[in-house]
Amino acid sequence: MTSSVTPVKHLVAEARTFYNETFGNDPEIAVCAPGRVNLIGEHTDYNQGFVLPMALPLVTVVVGRQISGNKVSIVSASEALEESNRVDFDLPTSTTPLLPGKPRWANYVKGVIQHYRAHPLPGFQAAICSSVPLGGGLSSSASLEVAVYTFLQQLCPDDGDDKAKAMACQKAEHTHAGVPCGIMDQYVSVLGKEAHALLIDCRSLEAEPVPLVDPGLVILITNSNVRHSLTGSEYPTRRKQCEEAAQLLGKSSLRDATREDLEAAKDGMDNVTYRRARHVIEEIRRTSQAAEALRQQNYKEFGRLMVESHNSLRDDYEVSCKELDELVNAAMEVRGVYGSRMTGGGFGGCTVTLLQADVVEQVKQHIMEKYNGSPSFYITTPSEGARVLSL
Ligand code: GLA
Repeated sequence: MTSSVTPVKHLVAEARTFYNETFGNDPEIAVCAPGRVNLIGEHTDYNQGFVLPMALPLVTVVVGRQISGNKVSIVSASEALEESNRVDFDLPTSTTPLLPGKPRWANYVKGVIQHYRAHPLPGFQAAICSSVPLGGGLSSSASLEVAVYTFLQQLCPDDGDDKAKAMACQKAEHTHAGVPCGIMDQYVSVLGKEAHALLIDCRSLEAEPVPLVDPGLVILITNSNVRHSLTGSEYPTRRKQCEEAAQLLGKSSLRDATREDLEAAKDGMDNVTYRRARHVIEEIRRTSQAAEALRQQNYKEFGRLMVESHNSLRDDYEVSCKELDELVNAAMEVRGVYGSRMTGGGFGGCTVTLLQADVVEQVKQHIMEKYNGSPSFYITTPSEGARVLSL
């Protein structure tokens, strides 16, 4: 079965009704920010490397209005929440910052308010609705952060610097969700471009849009619908291992290291550190090559690099899991599939598959037969980053 993508205007209508039922008046502002899928360049962003994600038509919508005073009240319509769907708090002051607490989903909101780049923010009421599956590896959290930031921009405009906006949202995730993530998810949620993937240089923070519209091509996301608890602890461990490897190589980050540097230092390194660094160095190279292949519409080459990326994430970086491997293997068995790989942090979540449009039903069928779980599918196109919507 395919999970169809809820049109943004339906989500806005849903959020509007929810807002009205909760607060007894009508919202005046509506914004949205997308989730993302990373085509290639995994675990390279915090090593100052390249990534090649695209923004999704799956979005988080925030509707609401300013109120007098310094109170904030927010409701979230997310069905997967096992905690209270409403939160009320006072805006932070210079002496009383907003601290993380419960419900956990509100920490993303609080973090963004805390790191917002203009003052003074007025009190407000808001309702949140999202079509990005929670915890599915499609950056539901970045889409929430960026949507909230975009909402705050309507209440109290900042200087409009999009990169600073992405960085403020990343900081919110660090301080209020406790995840030391890179910049990719927030960056593409802010700056994603319709009909394009974004080749982001995570060192300079410059990005080049690479066209990705071909009626003969489909980008299929398959959600394994599993999420292993390792995600939380392994991500910071990987970051540390990369920093250690860079230090051993005498570089400020693995972006500056070559495969030759690594081989020359191999004997002074333990095998795990060596393999982590090998993944990152090779993945940065693959990502540049894949962007070039995409510019030339060489999907075969792009697909080959995707599979190489997956194998390296599985064997060297060790962030895949049997469910993701199963999904990739099943997809690759069908003729007309160019490439497939896990996407995002790993240990569950989704795979992304590039294939000829005419075999998409066959691929889904085959995956459903082969996968020992119940997958969901999204057929996606590269979409626009965060934006203001009409009500
Ligand atoms: C998560 C993080 C990103 C990135 C990916 C792995 O999605 O939020 O910053 O590191 O994992 O590529």
